[in-house]
Amino acid sequence: MSTRTLLILPGDGIGPEVMAEVRKIIDWFAAKRGIAFDVSEDLVGGAAYDRYGTPLHDDTMAKAQAVDAVLLGAVGGPKYDGLDFSVKPERGLLRLRKEMDLYANLRPAQCFDALADFSSLKHEVVAGLDIMIVRELTSGVYFGEPRGIIREGNERVGINTQRYTESEIARVARSAFELARRRSNKVCSMEKANVMESGVLWREVVQEVHDAEYPDVELSHMYADAGAMQLTRWPKQFDVIVTDNLFGDLLSDLAAMLTGSLGMLPSASLGAPMANGRPKALYEPVHGSAPDIAGQGKANPIACILSFAMALRYSFDLGEDAERVERAVETVLAQGVRTADLMGPEGGTPVSTADMGDAVVAALNASL
Ligand code: IPM
Ligand code: MG
Repeated sequence: MSTRTLLILPGDGIGPEVMAEVRKIIDWFAAKRGIAFDVSEDLVGGAAYDRYGTPLHDDTMAKAQAVDAVLLGAVGGPKYDGLDFSVKPERGLLRLRKEMDLYANLRPAQCFDALADFSSLKHEVVAGLDIMIVRELTSGVYFGEPRGIIREGNERVGINTQRYTESEIARVARSAFELARRRSNKVCSMEKANVMESGVLWREVVQEVHDAEYPDVELSHMYADAGAMQLTRWPKQFDVIVTDNLFGDLLSDLAAMLTGSLGMLPSASLGAPMANGRPKALYEPVHGSAPDIAGQGKANPIACILSFAMALRYSFDLGEDAERVERAVETVLAQGVRTADLMGPEGGTPVSTADMGDAVVAALNASL
């Protein structure tokens, strides 16, 4: 039997709470499906800073490089607001993304039927929605140099640099085209070519990769601001959206709300294949550490559970088991089980984080 290695980094805030529910799903697979994972756990973000004085210890980085997949909860919190940039909790996550070279961040926004009335948009706008945002994750303004706050005369100047090489654009474009071929075969690329040279190059390279390698895929281009508007006007016009690191950060939060709650959206960050053929991979919910509700059992674990489902699909070739988890989540929502973030205007009694995890396990049992 081939081993499947997982490194779990629960992180900060609600991270440990939602990850505890993923543990239940992992245990369920070992007990009921004979699919076992070799799981280790470590610290990231503020939790790592408190212990080691760095948001990601070198040993943890080395472990992340060696496993089949990393599962991450969330990083950050107000306690760390005053820290120098170099040791902020977020740097731990950014280091993982950069050093593992996880250039393709897949953020699927799917609206479950049971939540279609709960979105802030009209039922018909979001019902049946299934789009995939592919966000470039290792470059752009997140990592561009020069950066910093400098002195110029008698005032300070904040500097960040948007920078993309042709090869960085081409490889994430390929990821988007490959995904589109397995979906509805449509890609919309978003940038700001009207004001940014990096946007002009982005558009050119995406078009070149398309024409040379993926002429069968329908490709369109949109300015990212117009894209944000179209995402709220009629999101179902999209299949795969490919965009840069910063626009992808914004557009994926926006897309999450189409599905009802930020607590619903999973993500997969994929890099180049390792020696065993599996891509370097990290899976994490799109939501943050939500310090305002941390430690209260209020958080929705679904985004983290669905991130584990993505790991089954993209790292372990267990697509049918990924669907099993996704269907279990769908069943639970159809039963009306709701965490606080999923309470509609008519209210009701929310369940706890642990209850939601238990409900998903119960639905998995029923699926056997
Ligand atoms: C995300 C988050 C991160 C980002 C933060 C936590 C660094 O917002 O994954 O979308 O900005 O990429
Ligand atoms: Mg974000």
